[in-house]
Amino acid sequence: MKSVFITGGTSGIGAEIAKVYLQDGYRVAVCGRDKEKFDKYLGERENLEFIQLDIKNREQTIKAISDFSVGHSLDIVYANAGRSVGPKKIIPDFSNYHDVIDINLTGVLNTIEPAFNIMRKQGYGHIVAVSSVAGFIGLPGSSAYSASKAGVIKMCETFAIDWKKFNIDVSCVCPGFIKTPLTDKNDHSMPFIMPAEEAAIRIKKAMDKKKVFYAFPKRMFLITRLLEIMPRFLYRKILSIKIFNYSKEK
Ligand SMILES: NC(=O)c1ccc[n+]([C@@H]2O[C@H](COP(=O)([O-])OP(=O)(O)OC[C@H]3O[C@@H](n4cnc5c(N)ncnc54)[C@H](OP(=O)(O)O)[C@@H]3O)[C@@H](O)[C@H]2O)c1
Repeated sequence: MKSVFITGGTSGIGAEIAKVYLQDGYRVAVCGRDKEKFDKYLGERENLEFIQLDIKNREQTIKAISDFSVGHSLDIVYANAGRSVGPKKIIPDFSNYHDVIDINLTGVLNTIEPAFNIMRKQGYGHIVAVSSVAGFIGLPGSSAYSASKAGVIKMCETFAIDWKKFNIDVSCVCPGFIKTPLTDKNDHSMPFIMPAEEAAIRIKKAMDKKKVFYAFPKRMFLITRLLEIMPRFLYRKILSIKIFNYSKEK
């Protein structure tokens, strides 16, 4: 039986990814801090394990992934746990920003470390990190989020090259807006928003093909990619237009 470990599987994209792998006959573990959320969005199921941990804690994360792999193969690890910055502001809440970096970037590294060590020994494996199209650009009001997601994209780009010789595939998934508890808090418009169930099906399909990079929905990918490659003076002009309601904030 193949195994998949998913960080941040107590709600949203991670919980839906867990469901599609369970349906496909995998042994699945999800982790998160909040058991009540796990009960609400997934609950007890055959071949499903819940591990309570904070992804910021390197030792806890290494132990959880190592324990899960004892006596089993570790086929896929999703570094999915993440948070947003909350309401977008030009004056940052710096404590929040530190937490965003610790969870979204260091948390991904905490996940990748044991995944790599175990997969290297077993001679194969697939590591998938969930970044965001927000990582292509410095999104106004979301500097820490954009920076954390850009860091994940670049980390994956490197590992995908470095670890090919160990037979370890590394993929980076960059979703646009997906309807989850994370986006339910947003008070701004979210173009092309997609249900989490559909996102999970798309992600699994792309990861079954071992795509190294997968950004979706296509229209959101094209818009953000265009913003990424355009001359920066033009980018600054476009993003300064009054489409972000915090732009008048002093
Ligand atoms: N929704 C979108 O539009 C969107 C778009 C692009 C990328 N993403 C990315 O997709 C990933 C999943 O987000 P989502 O939308 O599914 O949000 P979500 O429903 O809020 O899920 C976030 C998950 O991360 C876990 N998590 C957060 N902090 C954690 C910590 N310190 N330790 C352990 N687990 C932690 C949460 O578990 P606990 O609360 O139980 O700890 C939860 O299971 C994130 O990396 C997010 O940045 C989302």
